[in-house]
Amino acid sequence: MAHVVSPPNVGHADAAIAVARSLEDVEVGDRIVRHTLATRLMHWLVGTSFILSFLTGMPIWTPIFGWMAALFGGLQVCRWLHPFLGVLFSVGLLWMAASWWSQMVMSGRDMEWLSPAYFAKYLRFESTDPETGKYNGGQKALFWIALLGGVALFLSGLVLWFPGVFPQALREVSWILHDVAFIAFFLLIIGHVYLAIADPGTFESMVDGTVSKPWARLHHPRWYRDVTGEQRK
Ligand code: HEM
Repeated sequence: MAHVVSPPNVGHADAAIAVARSLEDVEVGDRIVRHTLATRLMHWLVGTSFILSFLTGMPIWTPIFGWMAALFGGLQVCRWLHPFLGVLFSVGLLWMAASWWSQMVMSGRDMEWLSPAYFAKYLRFESTDPETGKYNGGQKALFWIALLGGVALFLSGLVLWFPGVFPQALREVSWILHDVAFIAFFLLIIGHVYLAIADPGTFESMVDGTVSKPWARLHHPRWYRDVTGEQRK
């Protein structure tokens, strides 16, 4: 647990944002620092490289999305650029794995969180387990699924990038794997973006790195207690 006192003449929000450049899990006045600058850079590298890989990949996949190629200067540019963006996305995911691996280990309680009954309550904002730490079961599951999907996209993408090196059967399996993985990934990320934007205060945590105390108490009660030292009521 760490406490930081705001310097005089600086509001809590500004002081918290300054602290968030290098520290997290810290209470600063009425704010709590949730993500350091390095974590936010890592996350936005993953997010932007995913979107760019998606936009350059869609016109290669089917002519229905051929109009997207104009954003990058045509289909030939997309064919050339897409694999490099895919590599950038994979580098971002590796960085994500290194940053969050230990914080995302699933406990038995996290698995219960994933039960359909609990998840439905969560979506209706009706329930939060008082023992939810910094990340809930759903967030942890997203992390592991994203890593698994990233490995599938990277390996199948390599085969498709260098077709002359690999046998025909492997190329065909890779086409299917790449398509299934990117569609599943896309649907997952739609859900993720919805939850990040629909719930007030969540998106800011990935922009300035800080959250309000009521947000932390509501969504991540155990993390809130660990950071502030407050006792469970
Ligand atoms: C591009 C639009 C995206 C938006 C608006 C967005 C938004 C956010 C926000 C606000 C958080 C912090 C949630 C918190 O502090 O509790 C977060 C965390 C996270 N994001 Fe994203 N994200 C995006 C893309 C992605 C992509 C493409 C991935 C792919 C792997 C991803 C993976 C994660 C993971 C694993 C976390 C930590 C667990 C979680 O909070 O769900 N995000 N994201």
